[in-house]
Amino acid sequence: MEKDKLLIVEDDEDVRKQMKWALNKDYQVLLAEDRSSAMSLVKQESPSVITLDLGLPPYPADTQEGFATLSEIQEHAKAKVIVITGRVEKEHALRAIGLGAYDYFYKPIQIDELKVVLQRAFHIHRLEEEQLNLQKKLQNEDSFEGMLGASPQIQEVFAVIRKVATTDVSILITGESGTGKELVARAMHRLSSRKDEPFVVINCGAIPENLLESELFGHEKGAFTGAHMQKKGRVEAAQGGTLFLDEIGELPMALQVKLLRFLQEQKFERVGGRKQISIDVRVLAATNRDLKQRMEEGRFREDLYHRISVVTIALPPLREREGDILLLANAFLQKFSHELNKKVSGFSQPAVNALLSHSWTGNIRELENSIKRAVIMAEGRKISPADLEISGNHNGNGNLTLKEAREQIERALIIETLALCKDNITKTSKKLGISRPTLYELMDKLGISKK
Ligand SMILES: Nc1ncnc2c1ncn2[C@@H]1O[C@H](COP(=O)(O)OP(=O)(O)OP(=O)(O)O)[C@@H](O)[C@H]1O
Ligand SMILES: [Mg+2]
Repeated sequence: MEKDKLLIVEDDEDVRKQMKWALNKDYQVLLAEDRSSAMSLVKQESPSVITLDLGLPPYPADTQEGFATLSEIQEHAKAKVIVITGRVEKEHALRAIGLGAYDYFYKPIQIDELKVVLQRAFHIHRLEEEQLNLQKKLQNEDSFEGMLGASPQIQEVFAVIRKVATTDVSILITGESGTGKELVARAMHRLSSRKDEPFVVINCGAIPENLLESELFGHEKGAFTGAHMQKKGRVEAAQGGTLFLDEIGELPMALQVKLLRFLQEQKFERVGGRKQISIDVRVLAATNRDLKQRMEEGRFREDLYHRISVVTIALPPLREREGDILLLANAFLQKFSHELNKKVSGFSQPAVNALLSHSWTGNIRELENSIKRAVIMAEGRKISPADLEISGNHNGNGNLTLKEAREQIERALIIETLALCKDNITKTSKKLGISRPTLYELMDKLGISKK
């Protein structure tokens, strides 16, 4: 493996040589004696960590050249800078920290102590790089309108959304609870020409049946006891925009008729009113119910079903989305550790196994909540299975032999890692800590296809 690059900026030749001699074994040591030689190495070699003597020529007795070098480094690089200064000049050290230096160190240099500081600096730098790479990755191809996912299953959904978002057809979004149905509806609105008009949600399952009609269509003054004033409904509020009928499977039969009429004619009357009101809205509907079964039971109208499901988008459950569990888990970890200001950098291997073998019946919502909780509970830098509180709720693992359970976890882990490494076998085997031939062997044995 290539050694990490360390740049030593020091005008005293003896000190420079001593430091190089002491650190050469652990790092690829680069040497500079002044600002210009330091800057050209920073640009050419991108060292991860830099030690910077504040007293540099042409003013070796002063700190102004050192500070100038510090700020120039920071304009060009994300390297961690450790400032080296005399013990009596503590205020310089603190000023350097205020200007963004990572740490300071007093002369004369105690190499053993410096080694510890350097190790930590390289470690932090590595973590920051990983975070940055992950963030970049998440911003690129694996996210679409705020929805994350690299699996073929979800990419296919993204492709359908791209195709239909700009049309005005009614779309039915199906999927288990927490799979992102509302997120999809909002994305479709944002991508449509109606994006500057309202997006109005009505949850058909959350409003009592006797209020639902007036909630949807509004009412005239005196339409029923308590109707003291005329009131517009959600349909009218959505004029020009998108109306999202959430949990449409819960809509009572009587209202299904009225809704169908409205969808066919784009006209309706307020409750207790005679006047026909014309409206232009795009309708999206969602359900986590099996509407076909509800039709068979006579609880959902077939004509309405056909009207709202010109196109159906079926969101896959999280457990079927190859590679997405870890992708989403890492994204949520990043988000919550930032929001909650906790320094948690990843998952322990057992925690990864727990994430991969959990059944996630609450899908992305459950994953999101579980990671949030884990970030709050975590005491170390890595999240443990206990922090996640999901063990014991496995994919019916109770009946498996040890061998079967092991294979199941191995299989899931390999599929996830392949997806994360974009099917690059070398990277995947490195990440998994096994050789390439072993990885090929395992893939063969576990029936994982090569791409
Ligand atoms: N692809 C995704 N990337 C990131 N976050 C997601 C994704 N899909 C869903 N979420 C998040 O998961 C949570 C649940 O999503 P949403 O409310 O859209 O699900 P739903 O299918 O409408 O659930 P329910 O049936 O329970 O209403 C939300 O916090 C949402 O932001
Ligand atoms: Mg929802």
